[in-house]
Amino acid sequence: MRNTAIIGAQWGDEGKAKIVDILSRDADVIVRYQGGANAGHTVVKDGVKFIFHLVPTGALYPDKTCVIGNGVVLDPEQLLEEISCLEEKGIFLKDRLKISGNAHIVFPFHKLLDSAMETDSAAQKIGTTLRGIGPAYTDKMRRIGVRIYDLYHPDVLKERLETNLKYKNAIIREIFHKKEILLEEILSYCMKIASRIESMVCDTGNFLHQRIREGDSILFEGAQGTLLDIDFGTYPYLTSSNPTIGGLFSGTGVNPGQLDEIIGIAKAYQTRVGDGPFPTELIDETGDKLRQSGNEYGATTGRPRRCGWLDLAALRYAVKINGFTRIALTKIDVLDKFDTIYICTGYQISEEEGSISRYPEDSTRLAQCQPIYKELPGWEGTVRGATDYKEFPKNARRFIEKIENFIHCQISLISTGPDRTEIVRRY
Ligand code: IMP
Repeated sequence: MRNTAIIGAQWGDEGKAKIVDILSRDADVIVRYQGGANAGHTVVKDGVKFIFHLVPTGALYPDKTCVIGNGVVLDPEQLLEEISCLEEKGIFLKDRLKISGNAHIVFPFHKLLDSAMETDSAAQKIGTTLRGIGPAYTDKMRRIGVRIYDLYHPDVLKERLETNLKYKNAIIREIFHKKEILLEEILSYCMKIASRIESMVCDTGNFLHQRIREGDSILFEGAQGTLLDIDFGTYPYLTSSNPTIGGLFSGTGVNPGQLDEIIGIAKAYQTRVGDGPFPTELIDETGDKLRQSGNEYGATTGRPRRCGWLDLAALRYAVKINGFTRIALTKIDVLDKFDTIYICTGYQISEEEGSISRYPEDSTRLAQCQPIYKELPGWEGTVRGATDYKEFPKNARRFIEKIENFIHCQISLISTGPDRTEIVRRY
């Protein structure tokens, strides 16, 4: 296996973790490069469910090295909790997890601000995961954030935090009317975590370059999805990082010439958690049926996911932005239960403006779009658990081929159930 990126093609929750898990078998190093503990990557191994938030999914293989790159915003408490939960299940990670010293820290006050913003009636509610992601990336961009390396330079750390808290406390006091954050408390928090993670901190960019030079295979595990990207997603209803391909390079220090494959992960229908436009959303019994059959509840927050039909115009946009070399389609077995299946091939904007087949990058316009559907017959029988494309009913194959023709990208992997073994490899 060569160096491969796994990228969400929709609004996250596409089932990336299962594909990462399968491909991890042939990789040497698995890397998270953007986002933070807002991700909830679920893998079922021998009937046991594992949910990863910060730790790369490849941790399940004892011989793989895991890397958290500089583009991640890292909540140290969450990381340490995840490491000890894995240890309880017999998975030991400390010697094979590397954390970039340049990753920014998510502090408790970032989480406090995230929830204060979400509950403030005057602020725009996004429906975040409340993991402090937006406030931590805001600090990074404002150049007042604290990086992991700063934990080991006491003077720099104190100065950074003083500046940071000066602004933070003004907001906390004046806008949210909450108790100020004390510098001493944060400094002692830093002392506690610094020693516990120190052995894992390193220059991960250099480490990855070395491993690539030595011929190792690297698997890059994207979090969230293309339509949640801060630049290409449905602004402002999105996350604060770049889940699209560019985020991989800025979040690791690996360069484009070192990447061989970019696999887009798309679900056979569409889901979204949090607010924001969603043209194919079904607020009816069909949507409920998708949610129940697909068990569409957030892995991080437990929130019910909004559900709707597959939006091919949006998927084609994701192919274009990321340059997917192939697609892995997940959860097709959920559609077993439907007599008729719809795929969105464009949008009706208004009587005057007519229809478009291109996904509009202007999200206010996207919110005005009505989907134009192509109706497809469902299939007799089931695709559940299939491992060979030949086992697929004719109409299920037709569904796959219709998608490929529309998005001009091959679907090479099809997930047919939650277990590792339930997968069809086509190319
Ligand atoms: P944040 O990333 O917590 O700031 O949340 C911003 C938006 O991204 C919200 O709509 C979240 O529901 C969504 N989001 C963040 N992470 C994920 C994810 O891993 N899967 C799906 N949606 C996510």
